[in-house]
Amino acid sequence: MLSRLDREEKGGFMEGKKPLSERIFIGVAWPYANGPLHLGHVAGCYLSADIFARYHRAKGNDVLMVSGSDSHGTPITVRAEKEGVTPEEILNRYHPQFLDSWEKLGISFDLFTSTHTENHQEVVHDLFRVLLEKGYLYEQSMLLAYCPDCQRFLPDRYVNGTCPHCGFERARGDQCDNCGRTLDPQDLIQPRCVISNSEPEFRESEHFFLKLSVFEKPLLEWVNQQTHWRPNVLNFTRRFLEDGLKDRAITRDLTWGVPIPLDGYEGKRIYVWFEAVSGYLSAAVEWAKLHGDGKGWEAFWKDPDTKSYYFIGKDNIPFHTIVWPAILMAYGGGLNLPYDVPANEFLSLEDRKFSTSENWAVWVHDYLSRYEPDPLRYLLSINMPESGDTNFSWAEFVRRNNDELVATFGNLVHRVLSFTYRNFDEKVPPAGPPGDLEQELLQSAREAMDSVDRDLHDCHFKSAIGRAFGLAQQVNRYLDTRAPWKSIKIDRSEAASTLYTAITVINCLKMMLYPFLPFSAQRLHEFLGLDGAVESLSWDFDELVQAIRPGNPLRQPSPLYTKFDPQVVDDEVQRLGASVA
Ligand code: MF3
Ligand code: ZN
Repeated sequence: MLSRLDREEKGGFMEGKKPLSERIFIGVAWPYANGPLHLGHVAGCYLSADIFARYHRAKGNDVLMVSGSDSHGTPITVRAEKEGVTPEEILNRYHPQFLDSWEKLGISFDLFTSTHTENHQEVVHDLFRVLLEKGYLYEQSMLLAYCPDCQRFLPDRYVNGTCPHCGFERARGDQCDNCGRTLDPQDLIQPRCVISNSEPEFRESEHFFLKLSVFEKPLLEWVNQQTHWRPNVLNFTRRFLEDGLKDRAITRDLTWGVPIPLDGYEGKRIYVWFEAVSGYLSAAVEWAKLHGDGKGWEAFWKDPDTKSYYFIGKDNIPFHTIVWPAILMAYGGGLNLPYDVPANEFLSLEDRKFSTSENWAVWVHDYLSRYEPDPLRYLLSINMPESGDTNFSWAEFVRRNNDELVATFGNLVHRVLSFTYRNFDEKVPPAGPPGDLEQELLQSAREAMDSVDRDLHDCHFKSAIGRAFGLAQQVNRYLDTRAPWKSIKIDRSEAASTLYTAITVINCLKMMLYPFLPFSAQRLHEFLGLDGAVESLSWDFDELVQAIRPGNPLRQPSPLYTKFDPQVVDDEVQRLGASVA
């Protein structure tokens, strides 16, 4: 994966023709490094974040996209305990696997770090100290679940029970997966220790609390201005605030995690939720250090013109629209609050919830060992859980690959380029004066570029890819009407004009589809005889048309995508739920 600076050096968009007009910070949810990534993660936030980042880079904007392995929470310690290894071993196993998956899937992070770094600890300590000095943290004893069988304090997630709000029986001590409310273990009805299944006692322990309550009004005022947020995000956040904000403990009785920067708290750690969200800031600081400009992060965090986007799954909404903004307000210093939090909803798999323990999952590294990334990116884009839950099925994957990606776009490109390559001396054919049909098609391409631009700008990903495919269909109809493979025998210059027009529109399609299908768009770029990265061209209809010059050499094309045998469906469904190796 090219880093942001490498991309600049490789002669991309920094060459002066594209002035940087906007600065965009993109934070993406930090995955727990306790197991491999599956398609639910990808559809939840990584793909949408990447589409958005690629779009903005292609627009010539200055993008910083960061995330990292969430290394500390109980998901890691539970896993380590189960396997009888240290939490570090778990982290060291999954973090490199994450990096590998991002690279192969084309998720183009500028930095994917982890919360287990010196730098992160320093940033968290700074936040902690400043909040303590300003009186936004205070110490108080609280009742914490203690398991008499395990003889220890139980992290929130080690306690399960019935949700007091909705009656869901398998609510966790930190959150109810049914109604989404955040909880404390003592809120649960009939609490149970997840390890011993016995009933925990509640014992006194001293902890630091974040004065969330004082931010209730400022947060509500701020949230009410965010009318551009997705309705589910806005409504959820409003309801949450209207229920009233309680102060929350941000430390725990644990030995794995970021220590408290004060003497006398050796057995305690900063709670993962305070600590993990701080990663957005620490990752930007680390990125700046890595690129030799220690202050380079400030433009992304302190310039009020920078827009910060947080791509997350819906279960993480309150931490990004309430807790993190409250921490930022408390810290002061002009750090930017989120501009948008385009949270996706959930993806199911063959109409069932993803389940790691039942191996009901399509694992990213496993998928990539058999198939190309772009067909998956296509399906998860067209079927993104953007405004409601959606489902992934192998039958739909095969069908849409064959009938849409291959039939509508791949075949269009291949029949135009291979016919031109064979019949016009491996060059872009000469363009005659455009007729009505040509003008109509070019006008549609211009409009499609504008709508896809607006859609991507507004994080409407499904609509954007749908419009691009609508244009591809229109090019197919245009070719059916003009039939250059027939006209070439009668009027070679008419066939040349038709193919030239089709190729220019294909060049526009390449740009519109690049954020979604970066690998095949890059191959197409090369078939078109162009050099460098797709991203180095402007998102500009006229420039894209002009880049296709009659007489320019093309490169030998080959199909962008291949059809899947329907047998793939049975084979893949067979694998689901099979015992884990
Ligand atoms: N690791 C957590 C989760 O996957 C939190 C992710 S977002 C963070 O649910 F910013 F808070 F780290
Ligand atoms: Zn509930």
